[in-house]
Amino acid sequence: MERNGDSGFTLWFTGLSGAGKSTLARAVEQRLRARGRKVEVLDGDEVRTHLSKGLGFSREDRDTNIKRIAFVCKLLTRNGVICISAAISPYREAREWARREIGRFVEIYVKCPLEVCRARDVKGLYRLVDEGKIKNFTGVDDPYEEPEQPELVIETDRETLEESVARIFARLVELGYLE
Ligand code: PPS
Repeated sequence: MERNGDSGFTLWFTGLSGAGKSTLARAVEQRLRARGRKVEVLDGDEVRTHLSKGLGFSREDRDTNIKRIAFVCKLLTRNGVICISAAISPYREAREWARREIGRFVEIYVKCPLEVCRARDVKGLYRLVDEGKIKNFTGVDDPYEEPEQPELVIETDRETLEESVARIFARLVELGYLE
């Protein structure tokens, strides 16, 4: 018989570009795999080269992107896989839609001040934004709606990766998703 600790669920990371969503997703993925769990990461950039190829960054396209990711998460989650979404997902309504659709859903706000993301500039995109080469960039000249009641907030400028991962696992145990 399947125990609750063996069932699928979706970890939904949301936050600005450069906040640390992918890094956290990969670290959590590794630790879950080490426990013998099946895990799939749906990373924003990766999804946009396959499932969402051709979509841009208008609200409509971002919503379509999130709905596609949520659909895949729903299929995997109900088959016992742990799904980790690491897309910006800037709109509250789309995230709430994903929550309703998937059911077993844990929203994690990967919080980091814009200025810190800008200073990190991991992909060099903020520089392009400053040069006027990219428009409608989340948090700069495009909205980011902070989660109102996420299951967890991770502040990547205030804690180490290890601390964040430990807090995520502790919360998952508390919520009954892991033993
Ligand atoms: S969304 O809003 O959830 O559909 O976005 P997502 O699929 O996560 O894609 C975000 C990545 O695309 C790059 N990028 C942009 N981000 C935000 N706004 C604009 N205009 C934009 N243009 C390109 C950027 O590398 C994001 O990656 P991350 O991993 O978040 O840094």
